[in-house]
Amino acid sequence: MMLHVPEVLTREEVRALRAALDEADWVDGRATVGEQGARVKQNRQIPELSPAGRQWGEQILKVLLKNPLFFSAALPFRFVPPLFNRYEGGEHYGLHVDGSIRNVPGTHFQLRTDLSCTLFLSDPQDYDGGELEVVDTYGSHEVKLPAGDLILYPSSSLHQVHPVTRGARVCSFFWVQSMVRDDGRRSMLYELDQSLQRLRHRLGETEETVALTGHYHNLLRMWSEV
Ligand code: NI
Repeated sequence: MMLHVPEVLTREEVRALRAALDEADWVDGRATVGEQGARVKQNRQIPELSPAGRQWGEQILKVLLKNPLFFSAALPFRFVPPLFNRYEGGEHYGLHVDGSIRNVPGTHFQLRTDLSCTLFLSDPQDYDGGELEVVDTYGSHEVKLPAGDLILYPSSSLHQVHPVTRGARVCSFFWVQSMVRDDGRRSMLYELDQSLQRLRHRLGETEETVALTGHYHNLLRMWSEV
């Protein structure tokens, strides 16, 4: 399932983060990929262990964990701390798949990448190209969102970032290990939760919404690994 989570950061938060990022030191983005990715990746990133980068990443996660739509869709268990990338002057990242297991930089911990996230920090009118294209069993989807919005997609998908031919595309990106590994099960839980919330909004709490909430939690209990 692909999901657009709008307004993760406010305009003000994006402005402050962009001002800091525009002053930061950027390095070759091939530092964080394997052999296959290195052949097709051309961009710049903030170094993984940069203290400032870590701090900005923490701020993003803090806000995101309070976002009910993100939580409902991702059911997050662990995160690889957010990184930051920048594409300009024709830079791009060709078709690739994200590695299934990632080390959390600076630790001995590893996690399984179930979901990939891109948080846009440039507005679409400020650059040309730079669409994130995700290919799944339902075809190919191109995504280019307002600054502050996030896209969530299964890490199992093939994807690419098209060349940026004008301006700069700045984003944060990171991976989530979900409490529910299977994308189909996770999507069903998301649909059930969203339907329940709409029912509750329309009818208030009823005997049926309480029973359905029980079913939701029993499925989550059956399917989650924490
Ligand atoms: Ni990728």
